Amino acid sequence: MNYVGEITGVGSFLPPKAVTNFDLEKLLNTNDEWIQQRTGIVKRHWVENNVSTSDLAYEASIEAIKNAGISNTDIDMIIFATLSPDHDFPGTGCFLQAKLEVPNITVLDIRQQCSGFLYGLSIADKFIRTGEHKNILLVGAEIHSKGLDKTPEGRDVSVLFGDGAGAVVISAKEATGDSSQSQIISCALHADGSFAKELWLPGPGNAFNSDSRCSKEMIDEGLHYPKMNGRNVFIHAVKRMAETLSQTLAKNKLKIDDVDLFLFHQANIRINEKVAEVMQIPADKIFNTIQDYGNTTAATIPIGMNDAIKAGKLKKGMTVGMAAFGSGFTWASGVLRY
Ligand code: COA
Repeated sequence: MNYVGEITGVGSFLPPKAVTNFDLEKLLNTNDEWIQQRTGIVKRHWVENNVSTSDLAYEASIEAIKNAGISNTDIDMIIFATLSPDHDFPGTGCFLQAKLEVPNITVLDIRQQCSGFLYGLSIADKFIRTGEHKNILLVGAEIHSKGLDKTPEGRDVSVLFGDGAGAVVISAKEATGDSSQSQIISCALHADGSFAKELWLPGPGNAFNSDSRCSKEMIDEGLHYPKMNGRNVFIHAVKRMAETLSQTLAKNKLKIDDVDLFLFHQANIRINEKVAEVMQIPADKIFNTIQDYGNTTAATIPIGMNDAIKAGKLKKGMTVGMAAFGSGFTWASGVLRY
């Protein structure tokens, strides 16, 4: 029997505390006008101290599983994408698994940063097509707020990121051969590690001439805060997102007109506007959430998916185009019929 993977349930969770640009003005020597003009961000959500990444993931997962009309115990694999795990090891997928009370199933943690959701979607699609798994829970979840430099020195990075989680259930369906069947149609995954240090978190880590992966010197130097070459990231993001999405559409003989909705990674509204300009995508076909949540990295696409469903912009049978770009550099695109 041949199987395809259909997204049968979507969920998301944003921690209740909203942090506006005006709130950041008090910490970062920044201002609302600068942030809005350069990024489109108005506010983001930050967790309280006692909340972990797997806590956010749990809330999103519960909603996705409920919307799929199944129980936790019907999940036979978890794929967890995050760059901000609960702990260095084990992966956050295991902590989520324990919270969901689904022992003995397959759990796979992946990184891939802002492209993590699309990498996970492609992996899930392959596992479904082998017939080995029936209901895969794919989660993207991040807590950035605990890792940001909240002093004026960190302002270029710290205004961009927010906390949140998104989840989807991908279920195996017998392939009918009908082109209108709901399914993950195609994904393309890319990376270029020669740009790894253009957007990265140096410490803690083993690539230091030190007998400890976490030293006081490292912290004194601020190496535990993310570092970014914003301009280079911007230029490559526009180029690569447009390139990979155009290739994926062409490979599947789809034109912009055939796509009902575009869900792009949410790093900067200007990146998405440029991609739309290059690809000649009408603005009303792109669903953005960055104004409310900032960049939630692996969570942006599933959060956008859930918001689009709730806003009536994403309905069953629609064709969706997706693209993401981030640290690595990694980038990816995908097309699905919802
Ligand atoms: N608030 C106020 N001023 C700020 C600031 C902040 N948060 N951050 C930087 N600035 C200042 C800079 O110090 C600089 O001042 P100067 O002209 O006196 O030297 C000025 O603003 C311009 O900085 P610059 O870095 O050239 O701005 P930019 O137009 O490149 O925009 C980003 C900066 C970060 C918004 C933009 O580069 C970007 O979005 N890049 C992509 C980042 C991204 O998407 N990362 C995640 C990828 S997944």
